[in-house]
Amino acid sequence: CGIVGYVGARSSVDVLMGGLRRLEYRGYDSAGVAIIGAEGELATAKRAGKLKVLADALEQQPLEAGGTGIGHTRWATHGGPTDANAHPHLADEGRLALIHNGIIENFSELKQELLDEGFAFASETDTEVAAVLLGREVRRTGDLRAAFRATVQQLEGAFTLLAVHRDEPGLVVGARRNSPLVLGLGEGENFLGSDVAAFVEFTKRAVAIGQDQIVELTADEVRVTDFEGSPVEVEPFEVAWDASAAEKGGWSSFMRKEVAEQPEAVANTVRGRIADEQVVIPELEALGDEELRAVRRITIVACGTASYAGLVAKYAIEQWARVPVEVELSHEFRYREPVIEQDTLVLSISQSGETMDTLMAVKYAREMGAKTVSVCNTQGATIPRESDAVVYTHAGPEVAVASTKAFVAQITALYLFGLHLARVRGTLTDGQLAAQLHELQAVPEKLASVLEESEKVAQLAHWMADTRSVLFLGRHVGYPIALEGALKLKELAYIHAEGFAAGELKHGPIALIEPGQPVFVVVPSPRHPNSLHPKVVSNIQEIRARGARVIAIAEAGDAAVLPFADEVIRIPLAAPLFEPLLAVVPLQVFAMELAQAKGLDVDQPRNLAKSVTVE
Ligand code: G6P
Repeated sequence: CGIVGYVGARSSVDVLMGGLRRLEYRGYDSAGVAIIGAEGELATAKRAGKLKVLADALEQQPLEAGGTGIGHTRWATHGGPTDANAHPHLADEGRLALIHNGIIENFSELKQELLDEGFAFASETDTEVAAVLLGREVRRTGDLRAAFRATVQQLEGAFTLLAVHRDEPGLVVGARRNSPLVLGLGEGENFLGSDVAAFVEFTKRAVAIGQDQIVELTADEVRVTDFEGSPVEVEPFEVAWDASAAEKGGWSSFMRKEVAEQPEAVANTVRGRIADEQVVIPELEALGDEELRAVRRITIVACGTASYAGLVAKYAIEQWARVPVEVELSHEFRYREPVIEQDTLVLSISQSGETMDTLMAVKYAREMGAKTVSVCNTQGATIPRESDAVVYTHAGPEVAVASTKAFVAQITALYLFGLHLARVRGTLTDGQLAAQLHELQAVPEKLASVLEESEKVAQLAHWMADTRSVLFLGRHVGYPIALEGALKLKELAYIHAEGFAAGELKHGPIALIEPGQPVFVVVPSPRHPNSLHPKVVSNIQEIRARGARVIAIAEAGDAAVLPFADEVIRIPLAAPLFEPLLAVVPLQVFAMELAQAKGLDVDQPRNLAKSVTVE
């Protein structure tokens, strides 16, 4: 869910709605705001549906202007997306409003206790329990700050809470456990948000609120304490993102913009990290060379698209640094008994840095004594803060729910990490290292030329708008790209899609092939070692013989695929390990265009949220 808070001289409803628009990627089942008006009265508006529904309602029936408020955009966990279940939730006879992100695990016990005491509830949410509890504490203590502390101490689970009370018109209180909250420091105004995108348009000075901390916000003052109320030191940082980067600009969708920004995402992630044909990653100094040399195994943990970036990197890191790498879905890693030793390095990948499954995996790995490094796109996010070191990707804010530019930036950062490791461990010569770095530096320009071919892919997608199922095949680094191509199509176009390792075809999936079945094949370069190219060309012949409609993604000049493919999409020449960065682009474009042809919302696909902060 997305959370915004504001205290200051502006009209808080405008600040909140602007912030919610930037956070809408975090959930869009329903949205709501609560404002304390100039006369000191508390007013709320909330609606099921996308933010637009709330915006329209506010236009028809504006709230009284006021400088204090909180806003929320929801991804339903407890209780369906209805008006009643939308946040804010009210308590203390309508005098207090509260919003929440996360899951309160002990909510049923608390609810029973409150019901027994005679309190009533208007929704099915765990959030309302927190609101009613806070109302009870306000009555008891007569002080919002003290009541808030007493409330959070009774809650278990993951939560970011913000609350306002009519009797304290210039105050917003917030708390954070396991779920993100960032403070924006302004002049005579202050902000809160689930991430910096919520307020970067107004201020770039930010503070990441730590685990189990409370923040009390007025227009002129900010106080951060622990749950008991003891003050804690904060360290403000400068937000590197440009405010306009989180805007759509002239693009028809964020997705289209973000797909187009991929050359920049890679270039910015590389920038400043290569000097004298060597990788320079000062952030890794937290882990000394000695420690990196001692690493015997790398376990990558991630979810969704990030896990496929990890899978691509596995091939590269093993080849370059000669360390075994395994890639695990964070949620599968965490709840078994994985073998983690002191010389295991757990590398997490997360665009948002907030994915709860990945955060839990990182924390667990640390407890078990592993070294942890995170690859993350969001400054001040939780996962990097919980890790020994972080290598940031510099893709800029990614707003569309399905990940595109963050994916290529993740692979880029992981490659830099892999090459750094290879140097430290002496597994590549200087010449070999330099050659790989040149390849990496050439990627942005090649990406730009792949993007120029998008029109052809768009046409293909429009022809295929009625397709019910699509298969994707790849080998080696092309295999995770096949998985990612299938995921994009599921997420964006709601089409059944599967990715397979091409070598696995004959062991089962080939039974799926019937006349007319579309199959995308990521074809390795003819220069690929181990003759993978002819093997994949044979795979193409095998499925073609059974009637498949083959769309090959192949290197420019690769003539061997021509006789067997119905369509060929060309990508520029690149060293084999760098092909995935290029081959993924037509697959993203295909999914996006097909979704658009079906009239779907490509930025906010149904049922998804960009940053899943619940387990
Ligand atoms: C969600 C999103 C995916 C994303 C995954 C990991 O499931 O819908 O697009 O790949 O989370 O997100 P992260 O922020 O950890 O990279």
